[in-house]
Amino acid sequence: MPVILVANPKGGVGKSTLSSNVAGYLARRGHRVMLGDADRQQSARRWLELRPAGLPKIETWDIDGGRGTVKPPKGVSHVVIDSPAGLKGGRLQALYGVADRIVIPLQPSLFDIQATYDFVQALHDLRRESGHKPKLAIVATRAKEHTLSNEQLQHFLHELGVPVLATLRDTQNYVQLAARGLTLWDVAPGRVERDLAQWEPLTAWLDNN
Ligand SMILES: Nc1ncnc2c1ncn2[C@@H]1O[C@H](COP(=O)(O)OP(=O)(O)OP(=O)(O)O)[C@@H](O)[C@H]1O
Ligand SMILES: [Mg+2]
Repeated sequence: MPVILVANPKGGVGKSTLSSNVAGYLARRGHRVMLGDADRQQSARRWLELRPAGLPKIETWDIDGGRGTVKPPKGVSHVVIDSPAGLKGGRLQALYGVADRIVIPLQPSLFDIQATYDFVQALHDLRRESGHKPKLAIVATRAKEHTLSNEQLQHFLHELGVPVLATLRDTQNYVQLAARGLTLWDVAPGRVERDLAQWEPLTAWLDNN
C-alpha cells in the first residue's frame, strides 16, 4: 500500500491542493484511496466534506488517534497524507517513517527555495539516521510567467538530487475546484486541459511502482 506524503514546512505552498488532487487522481484510476490530514487546520478533511456523492470516493481517517502516531488503515490501496506548515521534529519523523513517497510542493521563488533546501536536508538526515528511503519529488506550484523556469529550479536544487517532476501554473482552476470538493479529474477534461497536461509527469511517477 503506497503512502504518499505531501510536505513542505513553508506555509501556503500548495500542500493541501496537491494532496487533494493526488487523491482525486488515484480515486479516478479506481484505487481505494484514503486522504489523511495531519494538519490542525484540517483542510483536506474539510475539502472531503464538500465532495459530492457519486464521484470516485476518497475516504479519510483519524490520522494519529490523538496519540501522535501515524497508522494508515488496513484494506486501502493508496494513502495520501496532507501535512501542516511548520512540520518538523518528532511529527516529521513519524510521517517520514510511514511514507513511501514524499511530494514536496515548492513555489518557484528564491526564498521558498531556501526553505525547501533546508527541508530536503532534514529529509536526507532522516534517511541517514533511519535507513528508510522514500522516493522524493519536487513539484513547482503556482508558477507564474516570471517565476523561475524548471531548468533554473533544477539548477538551484541540483545538489539535493531531488527531481523537479512537474511545474503547475497559477490558475483559479485549483481554487474553484477545491471550493466544490473537486479535483482536475472530476470535471470535463477540456475545461482543465492545460493543467492535466502539466500533471502528466507527476501522474506517471505515481503510477510507476
Ligand atoms: N496552482 C495554483 N494556482 C492558483 N492557486 C493555487 C494553486 N495551488 C494552490 N493555490 C491556492 O493557494 C492557497 C494555498 O494553497 P494550499 O492551501 O494548498 O497550501 P498549503 O501549503 O496547504 O497551505 P498551509 O501551509 O496553510 O496548509 C490556496 O488558496 C489555494 O487554493
Ligand atoms: Mg494545507
